[in-house]
Amino acid sequence: MKTWKPPSRISRGRSISSPEARHSAPGARLRFTVCLVIAGLSLCFWPAPGRAAEGVVSRERLLLDWGWKFHLGNEWGTGEDLAKAGSSVGPASRDFNDAVWRTVDLPHDWAIELPFDRNADTSHGFKPVGPGFATNSVGWYRRTFTLPQQDAGKRLWLEFDGAFRDSRVYVNGYFVGHHESGYSSFRYDITDVANCGGRNTVAARVDATQFEGWFYEGAGIYRHVWLTKTGRLAVAPEGLFVYSKFKSPVPAGPAEIRVETRLDNSLEALAECAVRCQVVDAAGKTVAEGNGSARLGAFSQRTVRQSIQLDSPALWSPDSPTLYKLLTAVESGGAVVDRVETEFGVRTVGFDAEKGFLLNGKPYVLKGTCNHQDHAGVGAALPDRLQYFRIARLKEMGDNAYRTSHNPPTPELLQACDRLGMLVMDENRLLGSDALNLDRLERLVRRDRNHPSVAVWSIANEEGEQTTPAGGRVAQTMQGLIHRLDPTRQVTMAANVGNTFAGLNRIIDVRGWNYHIGREMDNYHAAHPVQPNVGSEQASTVCTRGIYANDRQAGYVSAYDDNAPPWAHTTETWWKFFAARPWLSGGFAWTGFDYRGEPTPYGWPCINSHFGILDTCGFPKDNFYYYLAWWGNRPMAHLLPHWTWPGKEGQQIDVRCFSNCQEVELFLNGQSLGKQSMPENSHLAWKVNYAPGTLSVKGYNAGQVVAQDKVETTGPAAAIKLTPDRPAIKADGQDVSIITVAVTDDHGRVVPVAGNLAEFELSGLGRILGVGNGDPSCHEPDVFIGTPGARSVPLDSWRVKEVPDTKDRPEVAKEFSVRNWRRVDVRADFGPLTPGQCAVFRKQFTVQPSDLSATNILLSFGMIDDEGWVYVNGQFVGESHDYSSSPAFQVGKFLESGDNTIAVVVKNNEGEGGLNKGVALVIQEKPVLANWKRSVFNGLAQVIVQSAKQAGELKLTARAEGLAPATLTLPAEACAPPPAVP
Ligand code: GAL
Repeated sequence: MKTWKPPSRISRGRSISSPEARHSAPGARLRFTVCLVIAGLSLCFWPAPGRAAEGVVSRERLLLDWGWKFHLGNEWGTGEDLAKAGSSVGPASRDFNDAVWRTVDLPHDWAIELPFDRNADTSHGFKPVGPGFATNSVGWYRRTFTLPQQDAGKRLWLEFDGAFRDSRVYVNGYFVGHHESGYSSFRYDITDVANCGGRNTVAARVDATQFEGWFYEGAGIYRHVWLTKTGRLAVAPEGLFVYSKFKSPVPAGPAEIRVETRLDNSLEALAECAVRCQVVDAAGKTVAEGNGSARLGAFSQRTVRQSIQLDSPALWSPDSPTLYKLLTAVESGGAVVDRVETEFGVRTVGFDAEKGFLLNGKPYVLKGTCNHQDHAGVGAALPDRLQYFRIARLKEMGDNAYRTSHNPPTPELLQACDRLGMLVMDENRLLGSDALNLDRLERLVRRDRNHPSVAVWSIANEEGEQTTPAGGRVAQTMQGLIHRLDPTRQVTMAANVGNTFAGLNRIIDVRGWNYHIGREMDNYHAAHPVQPNVGSEQASTVCTRGIYANDRQAGYVSAYDDNAPPWAHTTETWWKFFAARPWLSGGFAWTGFDYRGEPTPYGWPCINSHFGILDTCGFPKDNFYYYLAWWGNRPMAHLLPHWTWPGKEGQQIDVRCFSNCQEVELFLNGQSLGKQSMPENSHLAWKVNYAPGTLSVKGYNAGQVVAQDKVETTGPAAAIKLTPDRPAIKADGQDVSIITVAVTDDHGRVVPVAGNLAEFELSGLGRILGVGNGDPSCHEPDVFIGTPGARSVPLDSWRVKEVPDTKDRPEVAKEFSVRNWRRVDVRADFGPLTPGQCAVFRKQFTVQPSDLSATNILLSFGMIDDEGWVYVNGQFVGESHDYSSSPAFQVGKFLESGDNTIAVVVKNNEGEGGLNKGVALVIQEKPVLANWKRSVFNGLAQVIVQSAKQAGELKLTARAEGLAPATLTLPAEACAPPPAVP
């Protein structure tokens, strides 16, 4: 803690102009207002509807994902200085030297980079982060950028889509905000503290010490960060709400498009404005228009409500996800002062107590999955493209609904659901009607309510308070808030009680059912026949891809649909029950994809869940095909297990088939083993004596073969095969290719028992983001970091001598006797000097010859209080005039092998001063190239490769001992990069 210093010191030594002075000087404000009025007078009036007005549109939304500096460690506390504004300390200070920190791009999850640790939390996937792992639980991010002078006078927002978990953000040394939830989005108005026309620094301290959930949650800034610029009169953040209404319950004829635009005037003057809306269809044609106007007092907000008729709208649904765009222009004084584009869909949703879920007025069975945001190779930090990949995978099996268990999702997930066609149960993290929780809930609803995919809000999951009167009251307040913010959707809660109406279930719009299949559900429905229901969480079936016997030691569960923990059910059990009861609306299986943590029914060495219908890479397990049979809409057949069982010749194998055909016939090496009728929502089973060769099925409808499948005995592993999810990617620095690595026999068939270790090398413009294989017990790294972190050597035990002044001090020479100099502890918070005192601090230390080959050697000071001049071996290396800045100096070229000396001349101006908070030599080694590798699991692994911002070719080569290597050449095609902060 710094002692109190007179206010004069705050303005000293600052190179940027003070934002307070800029914005608060009355003269400046008046000039700004007058300019705006004059600008308004000199421009033409509002243009006719449909014609774009000429004028100033200042809204920009710039991605701030690239080029952050990252450091894992909690050496500096929170960085806050509670005594004085703008004087945050350590990495939070403006001029902190982060040169030796690692460069990372967002989204970033540092937990994925840590090794597995048996002592870490089981449900979080044995990653040593969180309670009990202090050294791995705090990370700092810093990013420096310049803002053009023209931004002065604009409103500037720093927007975080999400950071796990407890973050503090600083801009130019100013503390701008503290956000405690790892899942809700947050933004800070940085207008006053930004330096327009100069350099700016954002620092974020992210603390993942506390968990929020009971599953892998990641750590760090694992979603996007944006810089948004608007005019002083603009649409407020999340200020646009668009929804549709129809006259009849089943949509027909024109839709009434209701638009609510919340305007924000942060000018010190009254503003008059018009709000022009255009609805544009998928072909880019304007299909409806509307006008509104508002008068806003100085520093006020106002909502403009408009109703626009849209004739013959194309309705949105998962099967036909038609989107429209609402273009909103705010005009004032003859100029367009803001423009906002909002994607939306026209559709109605609702739940009915008898008919179940209604989409566009008609019963629509929810065939859903619950999911956490967690994928192989990247942890919680999913590039946008991976969201699309995952939604597409789920859709492939007939899934039409996604529950964002148990938290607000990343915005791009909803965009993927809108565009690809997937309904969403959008879930809040925590039950709570305190101000903080209601604020988070409100932000969630305002942020997500324009998405046509969002079909229902869920206020919480399995809360202990769900049956208490207080729990009911809290839920009622939350539900009431949602209804006020969104009149178009109902509210549910994922309740894990049976036939219990107390507390929350008494008030909730839609009764959510987590498990409790059976009489409890039927009795509840009979007793409360007017309350709609939904299967908010079902199944929790456990299975491992490609494994056909339970193996506790290895941590594998058989992929036959036979295993579920006591509260849960097999796939077939839950779906048969739900399919027979339309009033249940369908439901959501736990889970679509495996995720890290919750390794039920095992513990170590198992590090991820077995609940997924697909594994952590998105490779389907056999149950995927059960769903495809009964959720999909085309004839299919799928046989299990694989047919490579050397040593089991003549032994009985449990053979099953998932199919939706009327009859299925099984063949072994061409010989029919009989035809059976397929029971609805079920499967067929045979016992077959194993003989190598081909096991196949034919599916018949009305006697005709309409589907086939086969499994073959493969030869030994012979080659690697690389297959990308798409033939090309975009060269925008964000897009990824999701590449399947398969080990095949010499006929190109995937060897279902292969476990070869493959090594990967990428050349060209791009990088490997991560690797995975879906093995729930694999402890190989998902990420390889090429450049090691910096090594820090503390330099303690100094000597100090007071001197009369700072000029031409002989004490800074390479050789100087320190006999009679006082010993001093430079690790303390305060130095020994009194106001006005000067002193020389000296330290002798040894440098190893090997250290001198390091890429960077920095001499790093916790604090030089107040001013300092630094010498190494008698040579001047730099000076510091800001006590809060934690300066660091490149000293590699001044060092010698063996003995070295540092001398620092310090002048203390006010309070206590000296060298404080430690001195260290930070040694950054030469970069080492990462050696990427991963074993395949049951024949498969995955590599995720990300493009750079230049077009070209990416070349991925995979090698494994004894196998023919493979090289994949992937074009990265030129495209306009997303607008980003340079
Ligand atoms: C539920 C819970 C989920 C998950 C699941 C495992 O009770 O809501 O988050 O833990 O159990 O079966």
